[in-house]
Amino acid sequence: MSTKYAFFEGRIVPIEEAKVSIMTHAFNYGTGCFEGIRAYWNESEEQLYVLKLKEHYERFLHSCKIILISLPYTVDEFCNITLELLRREGFRQDTYIRPLAYKAETGVGVRLHDLKDEFAMFATPFGKYIDREEGANVGVSSWRRINDNAVPARAKITGAYINSALIKTDAVMNGYDEAIVLTQEGHVSEGSAENLFIVRDGKLITSPVTEDILEGITRSSLIELAETELGVETIERSIDRTELYVADEAFFCGTGVQIAAITQIDHRAVGTGEIGPIVRKLRDLYFSIARGERPDYAHWVEPVYERVPSS
Ligand SMILES: Cc1ncc(COP(=O)(O)O)c(C=O)c1O
Repeated sequence: MSTKYAFFEGRIVPIEEAKVSIMTHAFNYGTGCFEGIRAYWNESEEQLYVLKLKEHYERFLHSCKIILISLPYTVDEFCNITLELLRREGFRQDTYIRPLAYKAETGVGVRLHDLKDEFAMFATPFGKYIDREEGANVGVSSWRRINDNAVPARAKITGAYINSALIKTDAVMNGYDEAIVLTQEGHVSEGSAENLFIVRDGKLITSPVTEDILEGITRSSLIELAETELGVETIERSIDRTELYVADEAFFCGTGVQIAAITQIDHRAVGTGEIGPIVRKLRDLYFSIARGERPDYAHWVEPVYERVPSS
């Protein structure tokens, strides 16, 4: 199954009709922002569950605010549009949803003010993001993460993803699955498009939101899960590069990557060189919640299709 529809200029249209001009401001200058949301198919319930839908639109509105995009929808309205689009598509498999806000004016002139804003969205079937989710081979990038005072990292700005693209391609061309990127000051920031955790002495450690990371929804979900379900504390503090080499476990997390264990960093084995116990437990928990298998976490997921009453 592939994408048949889009939400474009205020309504759902066939995907072929969702087109913009080459003169569009966002196409020329990267003046847009976006979200990446996942929906998980539950085969036994024949239900599609969208994970943390509301939280994604709350962050979306923060990104819009930072780059002066104003849209005529509330968080609840965005959620409803998303569910409506998914129902029209009728996907019965894991799906990725891409809302986009952008400067839609046609013409030349770099700025953010006095430009028309638009909103568009499409959804597409989507599986794994990294092939080796059980043990990624990762290098520290020679590129640096964008800095908040140059290109805001906490906003998901389309143009800013050239940074992620440079990092990812460099890593793959150098034979790695992914990269870890440092801040301008040399602390660990995150992956090319995912947040990072390490485990030391039974505690999770992750870079704070002041280290030019995207404030990840998976990241905060895992901090909560680790605490409440595993009794594992998370420390948010700066991480040095060489702490990566002596960590017991390390993993990436994000909507795209989901949870991917890192078993090699800069040619050094992480811990035993196998997927570790904390990441394995967190991954199992995360997937069971995402697929709607945990009634106590029903508030994390939004069912797309009407429930068939059980007879
Ligand atoms: C740069 C970057 N960091 C982190 C993340 C993870 O964020 P989330 O868990 O909200 O998907 C993403 C992906 O969306 C990202 O693009």
